[in-house]
Amino acid sequence: MGVVFEVVETPSSKDRCVNPQQPGTTPTVVVTGASKGIGAAIVRRLVGDGFRVVAGVRRTEDAAQLRGQLGERVLPALLDITDPDAVAAAAELVTGEVGDRGLAGLVNNAGIAVAAPLEFLPPAELRRQLEVNVVGQHAVTQALVPLLRRGRGRIVNLGSIGDRIVAPMTGPYHVSKFALRALSDTLRLELSRWGIQVVLVEPGAVATPIWETSIAAAERLQQTLPPNVEQLYGRAIAAARTSALRNAARGMPPDQVATVVARALTVRRPRTRYLVGTDARIAAIVARLPDRLRDRLVLSQSGGAAPDRAGATAGVADTVTSDPS
Ligand SMILES: NC(=O)c1ccc[n+]([C@@H]2O[C@H](COP(=O)([O-])OP(=O)(O)OC[C@H]3O[C@@H](n4cnc5c(N)ncnc54)[C@H](OP(=O)(O)O)[C@@H]3O)[C@@H](O)[C@H]2O)c1
Repeated sequence: MGVVFEVVETPSSKDRCVNPQQPGTTPTVVVTGASKGIGAAIVRRLVGDGFRVVAGVRRTEDAAQLRGQLGERVLPALLDITDPDAVAAAAELVTGEVGDRGLAGLVNNAGIAVAAPLEFLPPAELRRQLEVNVVGQHAVTQALVPLLRRGRGRIVNLGSIGDRIVAPMTGPYHVSKFALRALSDTLRLELSRWGIQVVLVEPGAVATPIWETSIAAAERLQQTLPPNVEQLYGRAIAAARTSALRNAARGMPPDQVATVVARALTVRRPRTRYLVGTDARIAAIVARLPDRLRDRLVLSQSGGAAPDRAGATAGVADTVTSDPS
């Protein structure tokens, strides 16, 4: 398929700079997956900065808790992003909320991490991973683009350093994040003529419940797989679990990601992508190494067919396996 180049007039991004402190304007932003982790931190941050936030959650208890903690600046919306009716209802709610002003931003944050060796991954588990991290993000974006166009809003997608580099046992997550990166890049091109900026935020390891949730789901899944999975992949699975536990304990605080998301929504000229965390920056360098060299580094830390010669670079390789990934 060929690429057609055409010079297009795009509204200058310099025309737009959201300042929630400006009197008379309370810009509204939608955040998905706001019950905990990075999503909850983003909501807290944006409310603190003066935004009104429509916060997508899946349970009424989470809605009540957010409202209790943050008050009227938060409008919780019951939103499972894989449920088309819920997406349509949320879009209707947001339309009623913002009217002609439109939306100042959409933060596609909701996400899950499915982990298993690809050889044994049930197709339904891959679909579940993609349904949340890709198809759901697309559905929410599609439903809200008209409001973003009206408000010259921005889209911020929660990618991951795992959208540039992979590790064994967490393939489903990487597949989804690589796809989300392609979704972001394509949307950025397609929406540029309306001045809608699309930003990909790519954190390294963040200390959130995702690690625990992912480990628990992986252990449940493993019970349903043939017994030889343990024999064939036991070492790699154990290494991925140890890495996940370490990241749960030592990852950066979610507020660090929220700060970057707030910046991406408000600066005059946002970057197209933001790496967050030293580990993400190092892994981004490793991602550009030749394939065989990068494989050796990653495998040396992953309990796979690990050549033990990479001791000197172990610290670097560790960051590679550090996404929930
Ligand atoms: N933690 C990290 O190290 C890290 C690093 C890089 C990127 N990220 C990305 O950052 C995002 C947030 O991750 P996190 O670490 O904050 O995870 P988390 O603590 O597990 O929170 C995930 C959020 O997504 C929601 N969610 C899950 N499935 C959903 C669905 N079908 N519809 C709507 N919401 C759904 C969860 O809601 P419930 O409470 O209802 O389950 C929760 O609010 C994800 O996209 C993740 O891939 C995380």
